Amino acid sequence: MEIPFFRYPHVFGQQREDILAAMVRVAERGAYILQGELKEFEQKVAALAGAKFAVGMANGTDTLFLALRAAGIGPGDEVILASHTYIATAAAVHFNGAIPVLVDCGPDHLIDPAAVEAAITPRTRAIMPTQLNGRTCDMDRLQTLASRHKLVIIEDAAQALGSKFKGRCAGTFGLAGSISLYPAKVLGCFGDGGLLFTNDERTFAALKQLRDHGRNDEGLVVRWGMNSRLDNLHAAILLEKLKIYPQEMERRRQLARLYRQGLDSLEDMTLPPGPDHDPDHFDIYQNYEVEAGRRDALREHLTKHGVRTIVQWAGTPVHRFMVLGLPNFHLPATDRLFTRCFLLPMNTSLTDSEVAYICEAIRRFYGR
Ligand SMILES: Cc1ncc(COP(=O)(O)O)c(C=O)c1O
Repeated sequence: MEIPFFRYPHVFGQQREDILAAMVRVAERGAYILQGELKEFEQKVAALAGAKFAVGMANGTDTLFLALRAAGIGPGDEVILASHTYIATAAAVHFNGAIPVLVDCGPDHLIDPAAVEAAITPRTRAIMPTQLNGRTCDMDRLQTLASRHKLVIIEDAAQALGSKFKGRCAGTFGLAGSISLYPAKVLGCFGDGGLLFTNDERTFAALKQLRDHGRNDEGLVVRWGMNSRLDNLHAAILLEKLKIYPQEMERRRQLARLYRQGLDSLEDMTLPPGPDHDPDHFDIYQNYEVEAGRRDALREHLTKHGVRTIVQWAGTPVHRFMVLGLPNFHLPATDRLFTRCFLLPMNTSLTDSEVAYICEAIRRFYGR
C-alpha cells in the first residue's frame, strides 16, 4: 500500500462540481479583488469561530506581520513565542523591527506558560502563542500573564481554525488571531491565503487599511499599507469548503480516535491527547504529531511500507536556524522533542483501513 502524506487532488475531487461552478461565477462577473465573495467569506468564517470580525489577507504570514503592526509593536519591543513554530511567526516579529524571544514547549508540544512567564522583561510587549497541530493552548494562563504584565496577545492559529479551549475558538482570545489558508490546511484555498480574526473594532478598521495600501473605504490613503488582500476567487472556493468544514473537523477527530485505538499500548510512543481526553480542549488535528524514542528507524520502516511521514519545519525548531543570527536560546524540552517527534498522515482522504494499515506497520516495527 502507498499512503502519501497528503492528497491534494482529493481536496478538489470531493467538491469538484461546486468549486468549478463557484469559479465560473466569479470569472463571468470579473469579480476578482475585494468583492462580494470575500465579504461573505469573512462574515461566515467569523461566525464559525465566534469572532466579531475577519479580514482576509494574502497568506498566513502577512497576517501575523500586520497584526503586530496594528498592535503598534516595533523596534526594541520583545515578543515571546515558542521555538516549535513555523519560521513565519518569528519572521513577522523580525520584520516589524521587534525582537523574537523564543521559549520552550510543554508536554503537549504547545508553548509552555511557565517558560513565557520566565521570559518576560520590561521590554516585553506581546505574547504570540502558536495554536499548534490544531490544538489551542491553555489560554487562561496566558491571558492571566498578559493582563498582569499589560501584554498584547496575537495568536498564531494558522493550524487551528475551529479548535477550542473552554468552548472558545482559537484566534479569538487576543487582540488578533491569524489563520493560514494554505492548501494543506484544514481549510485551504488553491494557493496562498490567510485571515485575521479580531473582536476589536479599531483593529478591524486598521487591518482592512493595512492590507489595502493604507486606503480607507473611499480609497483615500490614510496610513502606510501593503497589498495583502485575499483574492475573491479564493474566497469563492473557501465558501464552498466552509460548507463541509464541520464534517472535515469531525473526520479528523475520528481518525485521531482510530490512531489511539491502534497505537495506545506502545511504550516507545507518545501520542497527542485523544479527542475525548479533556473537556477543556476541542482539538481539530491539523497534524497528528507523535513522539517515538526510535523515531528515525521507525520512520524508515514506515517509508519501506509505503507510508510517508514528515518532521515539522524540516526537523529544525526556530532557535536552531543558526543562519538567522538569533541569540543562543537554551530550550532543552524543544531540543529533546525534535529528536523524537514526527507527523503521521492526517487528512480526510485517509480511509479507516489505511489508518489500520499504518498502525499495523508500526506495531510490527515494535514486534507487537
Ligand atoms: C504555525 C504556522 N504559522 C504560520 C504559517 C504561515 O502561513 P502561510 O503559509 O499561509 O503564510 C504556517 C503555515 O504553514 C504555520 O503552520
